[in-house]
Amino acid sequence: MKISFANLTLPKTGVAVVGVLDGNVLSNSAKALDKATKGGLKRAIRASRFKGSRGHSLTLLAPGGTKYERLLLVGLGKPGEITPKRMQAVGGLIYAALSTKGHGTVQVLMDSIDKCKMKPTDMAAELAFGAVLRSYRFDKYRTKEKAHDKPTLKAINILCKNSAAARKAYAPMGKVADGVFMTRNLVSEPANVIYPETLAKQAQGLSKLGVKVEVLSEAQMRKLGMGALLGVAQGSVRSPKMVIMQWTGNPKKKKEAPIAFVGKGVTFDTGGISIKPSGGMEDMKWDMAGSGVVIGLMKALAGRKAKVNVVGVVGLVENMPSGSAQRPGDVVTSMSGQTIEVINTDAEGRLVLADALWYTKERFKPKFMVNLATLTGAIIVCLGHEKAGLFSNNDLLANRLFKAGEDVGEGLWRMPLADVYDKMINCDVADMKNVGDGRGAGSTTAAQFLKRYVGKTPWAHLDIAGVTWSAKDAPTVPKGGTAFGVRLLDRLVADHYEK
Ligand code: BES
Ligand code: MN
Ligand code: ZN
Repeated sequence: MKISFANLTLPKTGVAVVGVLDGNVLSNSAKALDKATKGGLKRAIRASRFKGSRGHSLTLLAPGGTKYERLLLVGLGKPGEITPKRMQAVGGLIYAALSTKGHGTVQVLMDSIDKCKMKPTDMAAELAFGAVLRSYRFDKYRTKEKAHDKPTLKAINILCKNSAAARKAYAPMGKVADGVFMTRNLVSEPANVIYPETLAKQAQGLSKLGVKVEVLSEAQMRKLGMGALLGVAQGSVRSPKMVIMQWTGNPKKKKEAPIAFVGKGVTFDTGGISIKPSGGMEDMKWDMAGSGVVIGLMKALAGRKAKVNVVGVVGLVENMPSGSAQRPGDVVTSMSGQTIEVINTDAEGRLVLADALWYTKERFKPKFMVNLATLTGAIIVCLGHEKAGLFSNNDLLANRLFKAGEDVGEGLWRMPLADVYDKMINCDVADMKNVGDGRGAGSTTAAQFLKRYVGKTPWAHLDIAGVTWSAKDAPTVPKGGTAFGVRLLDRLVADHYEK
């Protein structure tokens, strides 16, 4: 979708969108439209139940005596309660209300609002960001969709005072949206299209933005001793890859430790020999979402030229049952030297991450590591599809992540780590086993497993199994792949690591 900004004048034709505050207090542009329609706006408001509340809207079609095709009034709620997140939701709502109505372009009129803490230029930028985020659609394989079901809206022009400042505020947001879209594309693609080799190719495309990208082959990983990751991959005809992406946005600090993001990239998770039931197994195409988020995040950071030195590492494998597949009871040796008895071949994500985390820690000695993984079904039992699980050995990092999540609307909830849980993965045969005792605390025992591969590095693990794919539309996230994590980690970086 095309976003443009121009200075505020009252359009006389086409589609115009104006804000209305709580209690039907008209913004200046809404007043001007009311005049242009000879009181049509106020009449429409009186004839409806519209109150200017947040999330509500009212449409006037082709008001008589004017050349407007459509006027859309959007509720902004109380001026003092307007926040960036809420302006994004307004943008998303505008997109959803207008995308399939036959219009190619619409004009949004953004006034300054009394008693509002936000500048109109920032409100304009956030609204644009929200509209773009909502406009995502994965339809490349739908060859027979009827034309009248397809979106027509191609451009939103936002009119506000000092449009140059709005354009400037929006520029980095547009780059973050590019990263979000890349992640959504990667998780939406089926596993016959996105597998380790093709996912690595996608990551290599970031070199155009100045990201240094290396791809480790199976032979190289074998040399490094990544027996945990390779054990998962051995049942598949697709050879595993590890991708290392480096963005050096602050060359002056090149000698200092970078920050690091690590992703689980299981391009399809059948469960292996501990095979999953067939119902819903197609969802396991997005078991690479952790790596999809790391790749999209690198795109966002490089795209907006973030002043930070960051490393992204993703471990890419396919988990399949076959004659060469790993068996329950097999013992593997991870790169760290620690041995693992593989009790359940479906607890594969932690095996992949064990080597990816250890490799990242050893090679880069980062300031901190955050890993993302669709790691456990148990986190969905805990938190549903509303928040992701946050596990960390470092309160400062955990608190910063929590705050960033609240600010962008990607909620996290802190979950426990403790020695009593760590004990549950002790094992008689090897240094540890890859599942806990019994069924309790499944997300925490998985996190305890990862913790054994991070040493003393400040670290956080985000279990995104419940939030990666959405069954219903939300204001800035259409149903499907959410890219949960890209905006959150971009915000973490922007707030704390770009000085
Ligand atoms: N990829 C799954 C977790 C998952 C489940 C993600 C549902 C999204 C939706 C993971 O590899 C897995 O299979 N975990 C097992 C672990 C168990 C065998 C200890 C699980 O959660 O059942
Ligand atoms: Mn699994
Ligand atoms: Zn998995």
